[in-house]
Amino acid sequence: MSSTISVTPGKNVIGAEVSGVDLSRPMDDETFSVIENGFRAHRLLVFRGQELSAQQQVAFSKRFGKLEDFPDPKDQADGFKTVLRVTNIDRATGGIKPVDDPGHKSFTLGTSAWHIDSSFRTLPSRASMLYGIEVPKKGGDTMFADTTLAYDALPEKRRADLHRLDVVHDFEETRRRHNLPPRPPEVQAATPPARHPLVTQRENGRRALFLGSHATGIDGMNDEEARSLLDDLVTVATKPEFTYRHKWTSGDLVMFDNICVMHQAMPYDLANARRLSHRTTVAGDKPLARVS
Ligand SMILES: [Fe+2]
Repeated sequence: MSSTISVTPGKNVIGAEVSGVDLSRPMDDETFSVIENGFRAHRLLVFRGQELSAQQQVAFSKRFGKLEDFPDPKDQADGFKTVLRVTNIDRATGGIKPVDDPGHKSFTLGTSAWHIDSSFRTLPSRASMLYGIEVPKKGGDTMFADTTLAYDALPEKRRADLHRLDVVHDFEETRRRHNLPPRPPEVQAATPPARHPLVTQRENGRRALFLGSHATGIDGMNDEEARSLLDDLVTVATKPEFTYRHKWTSGDLVMFDNICVMHQAMPYDLANARRLSHRTTVAGDKPLARVS
């Protein structure tokens, strides 16, 4: 094992920084287990000063499990279907995409709301790794909010009321909210709405709220009531004491738990500042566990 790897909790209650590890190199099991345990304990890990090809990012990410595919070739990095380009740069021209390009606009609006990657899937994903390559000098931070801490902070009676609720998560919700045209029916058919418990029990016994902007309704509740409850819980979960703000430097890789960590992209000068990140996402292998 590398003798220098260390996991240092941040100032906030969510997240830790991992140093002394080069993610581009093959990793022995002992080093990997330090990272895995750190991730379980802190739910968000920051690795700085990395230099990763798409292939190396895939190799590291795959240590955690099977990766999700991004089916549209124009979104894929270097021909890897498991690496999503998160960017305002047009691959064909190398220049900045027009701000009003519909696909780009919907992505920007979608990621600027608090969300959990892939919450609309039947099997929610386990984690995402976001690797910053080109980062704007100003703006473009990512905010993270921990719904484990938010759950813990709720009064006991309120928690019990939430345990029985199922939430519908739909990828189309963001488009509807921003009055963007729906995706073609065949694309929608590939990601139909999914239902998940509002509160999930993790393997370590802790509980978390499963929320985010793809959440569109609650079974057995009228739309208005459901919207108000979901919005209220997001407000609780995004209180400053439950959040971490990452200011990007090129070479940062941030890995976050996609069951109990929501995130949100902060604005930057879309028309003039270049931004390119590569995202990999570890697929889920089972439905979310209910509170027993
Ligand atoms: Fe995201």
